[in-house]
Amino acid sequence: MSGEWSDVISIRDFTREEVDEVLEHSFRMEDEGSSHRLDGRVLALVFFEPSTRTRMSFASAMMKLGGNVLEFGDPDQTSLSKGETLSDTLRVVSGYCDIMAIRHPWEGAARLASEVSDVPVINAGDGSNQHPTQTFLDLFTMRKLHGRLDGLTVGYLGDLKYSRTVHSLAVAMCNYECTQHFIAPESLEAPDHLLGELDDCGAPYAQHDDPAEVLPELDILYCTRIQEERFPESMEYEKVKGVYRTDRELLENAGVKKSFRVMHPLPRVDELSTDVDDTRYAAYFEQAENGLPVRQALLSALLGEL
Ligand code: CP
Repeated sequence: MSGEWSDVISIRDFTREEVDEVLEHSFRMEDEGSSHRLDGRVLALVFFEPSTRTRMSFASAMMKLGGNVLEFGDPDQTSLSKGETLSDTLRVVSGYCDIMAIRHPWEGAARLASEVSDVPVINAGDGSNQHPTQTFLDLFTMRKLHGRLDGLTVGYLGDLKYSRTVHSLAVAMCNYECTQHFIAPESLEAPDHLLGELDDCGAPYAQHDDPAEVLPELDILYCTRIQEERFPESMEYEKVKGVYRTDRELLENAGVKKSFRVMHPLPRVDELSTDVDDTRYAAYFEQAENGLPVRQALLSALLGEL
């Protein structure tokens, strides 16, 4: 790959050409399936927050490339519980692996890891900040669904304040000729720093509180879970819990485009009804599966084995 990048920390670190190159390589990985590109290499999975898709698809991707996986395990069972710093811990772990994927509730934890690590670091989610590998798989999914990224109209629905998947994806979409709609209650609106970034790059967007206003314009509705675990006060969560619910009836009566699809990074709680699963709109399980070729592409690129 031609890019200068040696870690995957923020989607901001990638040019449009570099993003497109990762997507092309992901298509090749999907065709190739299994290989021996990373025989004998070790991926350390250092997760301080729960995960199903990111952790398991990274493990599966590494195994499909012939490599091995080293689990950090429960942080409470490590020497962090004896008072070791995160920085020392990550420096030591980097000596036991060839590449590391880290998820941590602190914004900036993955950047810190890249500064102390001797091996490439992948941000598997840092607080409400970034989830760049999710963004690559979201873009890959959109390419598969619509055949292009330029010209798409995307609506983000739900918790736009705390959703790192939205914060990453909305920035990445600035590389393309897209229109973005942010649909949220006032207390969960997209943060000013994100909208300011869109202003700076001249990306068109609008804000709404009612999804019905924009559903007919959308190519993609990107639903998000309200992130209860990020609210400082549970009372604040109670006020917005269940505020939006996307279901079959809503979509069938909204006058959506023929090519309209629903994405969701998952997990879902009650914001996306299971009665959408069997409709032509549902793309979220396919989206989760796309994590595999995309993470194969990123692992092999970072380890110089394309
Ligand atoms: N989309 C996502 O990051 O899912 P997990 O939290 O299960 O990894």
